[in-house]
Amino acid sequence: MSKVLCPICKKVHERIENGSCPVHGLSSPYVYDFRNSDDFLKTETSRIKKERQINGLIELVGKLQAIIINVEKDRVLATTVEFLRTTGYHYQVAFENKDYLTCVLKLKGSPDILIRCRNQEENPFRSFNLHPKALNLPNTRLETYIFQTPDIREYFRYHSTRGVRFIGDDIINTDHYRFVQTFPSSYTGISYAVIQWKDQEEIYPAGQDEILKWNIPKPEKGYLINIRELDHTATRVRARDRDPAIIEFMELTCYNFDFAIYVELFNSITNVARLSDDAFAMVFTSGISPFIDEQHSGPTEKFIRNYGPRVHHLAFRTENIEKTYRSLKKDKQEFLIGLIGSPQQGLKQTFTETSPNSLLVKEYVHRYGEFKGFFTKNNVTLLTGSTDKQ
Ligand SMILES: [Fe+2]
Repeated sequence: MSKVLCPICKKVHERIENGSCPVHGLSSPYVYDFRNSDDFLKTETSRIKKERQINGLIELVGKLQAIIINVEKDRVLATTVEFLRTTGYHYQVAFENKDYLTCVLKLKGSPDILIRCRNQEENPFRSFNLHPKALNLPNTRLETYIFQTPDIREYFRYHSTRGVRFIGDDIINTDHYRFVQTFPSSYTGISYAVIQWKDQEEIYPAGQDEILKWNIPKPEKGYLINIRELDHTATRVRARDRDPAIIEFMELTCYNFDFAIYVELFNSITNVARLSDDAFAMVFTSGISPFIDEQHSGPTEKFIRNYGPRVHHLAFRTENIEKTYRSLKKDKQEFLIGLIGSPQQGLKQTFTETSPNSLLVKEYVHRYGEFKGFFTKNNVTLLTGSTDKQ
């Protein structure tokens, strides 16, 4: 049955008599047959670009500064050690206050990774985590993307006026930065945040925080230097939420929908949003059509049924990928799939098994010199298929 997608509330509604959005009463919402297509997204991308221009937002949100991965209390250290042995990141500092214990991981030229647990019960993300295969880790997910902004007051003012809900009544003001984050998105369970640094040094702990005397050495494995910056992350969303999730992300940042790869075999679409060719890319993966049942649905819709909408993997640009892959395997890292692709096709990629600490998969990706694209359909198909094991 056809439905309508309201361009104001971005929600899909059952078609009613006069074809209007039941909330906004708009008489010409988009008719949506509920197999995703890119037409609506392309129209919205150009609308959002125009709005950014009119409202002076073009440079209000910049590059990705950090991601926050929240884990269970007894897994902060294990998650940190895991990142140190499977990526190029180094441990910088761990600090604690009444709300959080946070471990900061750094890699030059790459967004920071903040691994954290809560010191109090309240968790606005918990309801997003309560799905069959995630029930044993009810506080675990990649929760927040933090982007740089040159003017946090203007960001907060503009989006508050639009009706965006932020956690806390006001901007958080610490020794070294100002920060504000949205409530988790109903489409993705992700919060978007902005940070404005007060000084050059980019220091996360504040004066009243306790600096923990943790000493977490980097494993002496030469191949880890091959694993470079965060290239992209991929978030899995329900088929019906693909467009609203991407539109919401574009409206809260300066990213634009770039392209989508349809994998009909697995009822899956890989959608890429980018800020520029060389910046971190935000990928959303959804079904083409909604979940039917375990037997007939593809790995993307099944993953969401089992784990809820959430970030599925973090991809790291990797040099000497063959040797790095072999070395990781030798050091007991398990993979969902072997190294796929070739220099002729332009790129090689692989997926690790799901982390028992963070529920995240890591991807290693290498693009060869002449390759002008971002993904290839062949690799996307094989990678998507490999996640059926999850
Ligand atoms: Fe990926």
